[in-house]
Amino acid sequence: MMGGATARVPAKINLHLGVGPLRDDGFHELSTLYCALSLYDEVTVRAADDLSVTVRGESRRQVPADATNLAARAVVALATHAGTDPRVAITIAKNIPVAGGMAGGSADAAGALVAAARLWRLDITRDELLAIAADLGSDVPFSVVGGAALGTGRGERLLPVLHRGELHWVLAVAGTGLSTPDVYREIDRLRARDEDQPTAAGTARPDPLLQALASGDVHAVAPLLHNDLQPAALSLQPMLRRTLRAGREAGALAGIVSGSGPTCAFLCADADAAVSVAAELSGSGVAKAVRTASGPVPGARLVPIN
Ligand code: C5P
Repeated sequence: MMGGATARVPAKINLHLGVGPLRDDGFHELSTLYCALSLYDEVTVRAADDLSVTVRGESRRQVPADATNLAARAVVALATHAGTDPRVAITIAKNIPVAGGMAGGSADAAGALVAAARLWRLDITRDELLAIAADLGSDVPFSVVGGAALGTGRGERLLPVLHRGELHWVLAVAGTGLSTPDVYREIDRLRARDEDQPTAAGTARPDPLLQALASGDVHAVAPLLHNDLQPAALSLQPMLRRTLRAGREAGALAGIVSGSGPTCAFLCADADAAVSVAAELSGSGVAKAVRTASGPVPGARLVPIN
């Protein structure tokens, strides 16, 4: 055995996702509140003769097992930065929904960066690692950092936020994923059609939500959850309306589409309530899979290798 390292990386949801104008570089200016949840992928990087990617888990067939995988691109970017060869075997134990709006691909890239930096014993600063992460994707820096953070720019500029206590969630995973660029294109289309967007939050900072999060009062947080991308996700997958309704009827305090969707995230009063909402949602047949998770939790962390 030539040595290796494993990183465990959480999924994310956006408690607030405000989408501003489309920029010249093709990205939208955002104001978002990220929250890392206790649903994890594990990325192992081992020294090898060539770069390879193996994906394990139920959804492995939906994930590219080649150099286009974001984890492979992360290893190549880090190797270039360090002046070394990216000759590693990457194994991803996939647990985060694929194309679900929970930053699963970004989590794998973040895990690959953290694990490869350890494998190669790199002397790299956190800021350097976060800059490489940002080049790989807008959500990758947050997957490294985790916790709860305000994201601006295209989502890559982060400020940690104060939070008290744990929030308990039920996640309804859809059978068919949504492509993030498609959802952003759809919001542009809807906005061009209806010039007036009374419910859009845009790039304003979500101050009331920040205060509610700091107070640790789940009942104050619930009505402030917001996602500007939700109308676009609902337009592309109208069945999600039923899912959102079913979660609220099952006793969740509030439900939103997570990021670009189609996973729906339901905030519950406590851990017991989450278990009962999950049981009821599972029986309602509106989702392919139903999971419980809590957060905020830390970002990508090294774990002892198996
Ligand atoms: O940064 P990432 O690779 O995750 O972005 C994927 C796609 O999502 C982008 O190519 C763009 O179409 C869209 N996007 C956007 N504005 C953002 C983030 C992502 O339009 N702030």
